[in-house]
Amino acid sequence: MKTKQPKLHYTARRKRALSDLSGRVAVVTGANGGIGYQVARGLAALHARVVLACRDEAKGERARARLRAEFPDATFDVLPLDLSRRASVEEFVARLIRIAPRVDRFVHCAGVYYPRETTTPDGLPATVGINFVGTVALNEAILPLLSRDGRAVFVTSLVDRKGRVKSTPLADDEPSGYAAYARSKFLLSGYVLKKSVDRAENAPLFVAAHPGITKTPLLSKEKTGPRPLWSRLGHALLYLFTQSPEKSSLPILYAACGNAENGDYLAPRGLFRVFGYPKKIRFPNPVVQAVKTHPEWFADARRTSPE
Ligand SMILES: NC(=O)c1ccc[n+]([C@@H]2O[C@H](COP(=O)([O-])OP(=O)(O)OC[C@H]3O[C@@H](n4cnc5c(N)ncnc54)[C@H](OP(=O)(O)O)[C@@H]3O)[C@@H](O)[C@H]2O)c1
Repeated sequence: MKTKQPKLHYTARRKRALSDLSGRVAVVTGANGGIGYQVARGLAALHARVVLACRDEAKGERARARLRAEFPDATFDVLPLDLSRRASVEEFVARLIRIAPRVDRFVHCAGVYYPRETTTPDGLPATVGINFVGTVALNEAILPLLSRDGRAVFVTSLVDRKGRVKSTPLADDEPSGYAAYARSKFLLSGYVLKKSVDRAENAPLFVAAHPGITKTPLLSKEKTGPRPLWSRLGHALLYLFTQSPEKSSLPILYAACGNAENGDYLAPRGLFRVFGYPKKIRFPNPVVQAVKTHPEWFADARRTSPE
């Protein structure tokens, strides 16, 4: 019987830039759709066993079925993960240890923008609670599982440079819209930078990546609460000029499997870093300065969030 060939684009570029992951385990959060799904495809094409960490298990299973159809020889696992709940993060890590005690690539891709819920069940502002606190809590918990040549990759955003902390990082003083999203990615980028600077010798690498802008379900009606007109019009216009989720997954794949070094930041090379093939960029100045002046903002969120 003829097996179905994967319909991946950018194959020559992938071949040049990305290393094979045969025998390796990669985890992707938010792997059921959007950019995370494309990252999972890219990792499967490199022969990794891929763990799909998904908030909604049914969506995770549907993603696994599609991936299996495209990569019949690959192994995929689905594990439930809700970054808005500390208990779910802990359960996820306990399950992960059982199926994969050693992980080689951990890609933190899950995120929200204008979420319907404004507060997490743990009582934090939702956007920062999920994109920063949940992601960091998860990362700190999985670090002991990462192999010595492993990498933790974080999907941030080109608006990280616009994030501000008015009083404390977790203060509920931003409406749950653009400013909260920018703050969450500012904090996440700062966390990656700080981890890379503080990294012990022989520890896994910490690498940031952003996808530019691409049309995914991130801002779909199903996922978002009320959005101002400027945001709806602005994104409709932006989406006319942006690239596919598959192309947007390339900076993240380069961060995970390319020649990235500790503390690198990969992003599209095009105008305003909105589109284009991946390139190493600098962490934005506001992030660099804040890490120097307020390192406590970027510390392990388990110690900065209310119990
Ligand atoms: N699209 C862009 O232009 C763009 C630009 C810059 C950065 N990004 C970043 O790229 C990442 C992926 O976004 P996307 O555009 O691919 O959007 P997406 O399709 O909505 O993907 C987001 C993923 O995160 C998951 N997720 C949301 N809340 C979660 C929670 N509490 N716990 C666990 N998983 C959760 C979603 O699960 P459900 O499907 O169940 O909601 C989904 O799998 C995000 O970090 C986003 O901030 C995107």
